[in-house]
Amino acid sequence: MNTTSVWRATGPSAGFPMLQEELTTDVVIVGGGITGVSLALNLAEQGIGAVLLEAHDCDFGSTGNSTGNLYETLSRGIYPIVERWDKDVARAVTTARRQAVEQIEERVRKYNITCGFRRCPLHRYATSAGGKESVQQEYEGSLIAGLSVRLEDKLPHPFPAPHGRVLILDNQAQFHPQAYVRELAQQAAKQGCRIFENSMVLEVDADERVVRTANGKVTAREIVLATHSPKGIHLVQTEMVVNREYGLARRISRDTYPAGIFWSSGLERLSVRTLDVEDATYLICVGEEHKTGQQDTRTSIDRLETAASEYLGMKEIDYRWSAQNYSAADGLPYIGRDATGCFVATGFETDGLTYGTLAASLIADQIAGRDNVFAPLVKASRFEPVKGVKGIVEENISVMKSFIKDYITDREAIPLSQLTPGKAAIVKFESESLAAYRDAEGTLFAVSPVCTHMKCRVHWNAVEKSWDCPCHGSRFAPDGAVIEGPAIEPLRRHVLPGH
Ligand SMILES: Cc1cc2nc3c(=O)[nH]c(=O)nc-3n(C[C@H](O)[C@H](O)[C@H](O)COP(=O)(O)OP(=O)(O)OC[C@H]3O[C@@H](n4cnc5c(N)ncnc54)[C@H](O)[C@@H]3O)c2cc1C
Ligand code: FES
Repeated sequence: MNTTSVWRATGPSAGFPMLQEELTTDVVIVGGGITGVSLALNLAEQGIGAVLLEAHDCDFGSTGNSTGNLYETLSRGIYPIVERWDKDVARAVTTARRQAVEQIEERVRKYNITCGFRRCPLHRYATSAGGKESVQQEYEGSLIAGLSVRLEDKLPHPFPAPHGRVLILDNQAQFHPQAYVRELAQQAAKQGCRIFENSMVLEVDADERVVRTANGKVTAREIVLATHSPKGIHLVQTEMVVNREYGLARRISRDTYPAGIFWSSGLERLSVRTLDVEDATYLICVGEEHKTGQQDTRTSIDRLETAASEYLGMKEIDYRWSAQNYSAADGLPYIGRDATGCFVATGFETDGLTYGTLAASLIADQIAGRDNVFAPLVKASRFEPVKGVKGIVEENISVMKSFIKDYITDREAIPLSQLTPGKAAIVKFESESLAAYRDAEGTLFAVSPVCTHMKCRVHWNAVEKSWDCPCHGSRFAPDGAVIEGPAIEPLRRHVLPGH
């Protein structure tokens, strides 16, 4: 299945070179999603030297596979923040997020960025009776958090009638996230940031302040891990839940659906919007979230297609894709310096286009020695490390093993001879268990099923053809290469002569 997102298929494709030298600079940024690229521009605008290293291209991660919505509230609702924290924290979150959306709008205007930025209302509603209460609760939470919300009885045509009332938050925004990030990267480069693509960081030496790629290295005063989940072992990983979610896009006639953010709760938790690119319009539907590596991915995307067909009449799909999000235990992201001395920015849930922009401003302030009022609330070291790294590894393995016991220990290995083309499984080879995939042409890829991050066991993702780790979301290609997540080392490759 082709899993290119509508953003990556329709956005600009300017490239940057690969790192093939040794450089010294003030700040090295690892990762070229919205967080890394926004930070690159922040630093360049202030005349601070920076090098950005991106493993693939600058929209490879969740940014280029998201929904492109920008809003002051949170997708899971601001009410849980009011409940878990208090009114002041909820107000601080919405204020900081409003400022981040305004910063994006200002940059679009200042740099004349063609990314379809538009202001629009956000609608939250229920598609089944069970979701009605959460809309009412969210209305009350939104008022406490200082958001100007109102309730309406109907959704605009042609959305089906909701169950109960519709919560509306006006003056939110949408853009084409891939186009925005690509053009922002061009601006950062014009203003002096050196950007390299296809330059995966293979080693982070936080003590020596060096990062290394296959063909070069960068020495810097500060290291920023803008890699969504920080690379290597970091305490925040033990506190986060990692989910994958799916997107669909179908070309439609312009003006069939109104502009806006449409979030349903109830039986289906769907996010719906339109996208206008040149002479084409697409209807986008995102949903079916599940924990990474813990569910059959084909079932998930099938379920989303069924929901999109029944609810929106989306019958023939032009684009299908998937992306990862990381949820913090206490509902707030982790932004700032962590115990390793590196800056990290993670735990954004599905709100990271705004949080990533906010994180970039916050980290730029900290690097420049300026105060940032939001920083204490989201600091990455807000829980105390109680053990050394080895202890963390052991504790995490045992927690994760009991959490997903059935999933990782009870899978039966099949004989290698039963691995037909197009199939993946755990196979037994000379008393060893291997994660094996035979492609459509019959070529066999066999790797160790033990994740190189903290030693959990990987699970096959049939939609994206990858081995996904259920513990902290590392994902690996059939040949073991790291695709995303905290792992740095590839899965150990095994060559099986004669197979
Ligand atoms: C389905 C879905 C829909 C979403 N929709 C929205 C939305 O509408 N609005 C919203 O606000 N948020 C949304 N989000 C969340 C949002 O997409 C993310 O939080 C945000 O994009 C994170 O940006 P980032 O720059 O931190 O990470 P990413 O965009 O993931 O970028 C990290 C980059 O680091 C690179 N990298 C990783 N390892 C290395 C390495 N070793 N060396 C060099 N580079 C490396 C990766 O290749 C990647 O390009 C959505 C998330 C999902 C899953
Ligand atoms: S053990 Fe942490 S991602 Fe696999």
